[in-house]
Amino acid sequence: MMATLPRPRDAAAREVKVDVDIAHSFGALCVHDGLQFAVRENEFLCLCGPSGCGKTTLLDILAGLLKPTRGRVLVHGEPVDPKRHNISFVFQEPSTLPWLTVRNNVAVGLRIKKRPEAEVRRVVDDILGVVNLRGYEDYYPHQISGGMKQRVAIARAFATDADVILMDEPFVSLDQPTRERMQAEVLSIWERKKGTIIFVTHNLEEAVFLGDRTIVLSAKPARILADVPITLPRPRNTLSPEFMRLRTQFASLLNSALPSRSGR
Ligand SMILES: Nc1ncnc2c1ncn2[C@@H]1O[C@H](COP(=O)(O)OP(=O)(O)OP(=O)(O)O)[C@@H](O)[C@H]1O
Ligand SMILES: [Mg+2]
Repeated sequence: MMATLPRPRDAAAREVKVDVDIAHSFGALCVHDGLQFAVRENEFLCLCGPSGCGKTTLLDILAGLLKPTRGRVLVHGEPVDPKRHNISFVFQEPSTLPWLTVRNNVAVGLRIKKRPEAEVRRVVDDILGVVNLRGYEDYYPHQISGGMKQRVAIARAFATDADVILMDEPFVSLDQPTRERMQAEVLSIWERKKGTIIFVTHNLEEAVFLGDRTIVLSAKPARILADVPITLPRPRNTLSPEFMRLRTQFASLLNSALPSRSGR
């Protein structure tokens, strides 16, 4: 039977924004074998796990796009519902709308919410400044680079004060210097705008660099191998002993949990 989390009682527990207790199978394929965790308001949570362990499936469930075989996802104590909650998704491949300019791509969510045009302009101008896209407002997606398109997608995700921002390996297709710049930009936008972020990556260094906390998942059927707060001050030095210690700890956990070659 599914274990239920205790109802929030103290102030700290009330801050819980997303409360997850799920299991999921696609037919006979068990992907999640019982995952339970909570994410706090304005927390930056990184989810790390090997390819195919069910990270994207988990994000689909968190977004309310896929119903788990068992269990539930609560946002602010209510079952997640894409019509009721404002969930932003940033995908691996930049997802811009090719027929809209940069400005209008970022404004899309605000316009759907019918925000006054003056507010749309103010928010979009502000956020385009944060992601370094001032001067490109009137460009179309085909006129800008892949990294810039991803910045448009990130700006759009933050523009609407989402309940939760889900990011699915958003930098995986970028070269290392661009990836590092984007990581710094996401942190700077999050530090200014705040928001509850669930960031999926299979890059352990990225997880330790970005997150307030990292959850490491095993290969499927995925279970939680570690759930560790990262308290290192930002900006984090990837060469510091403490940083390397955490990364090595996560790497050895992942290696020890990989299926044997003879397995699936
Ligand atoms: N709609 C579906 N129907 C059946 N099986 C699926 C479906 N979606 C995903 N799967 C399977 O579920 C497992 C987890 O897939 P998922 O895409 O969530 O993994 P992932 O951790 O995001 O992998 P990657 O790191 O490669 O992106 C895989 O074995 C995949 O084949
Ligand atoms: Mg995936």
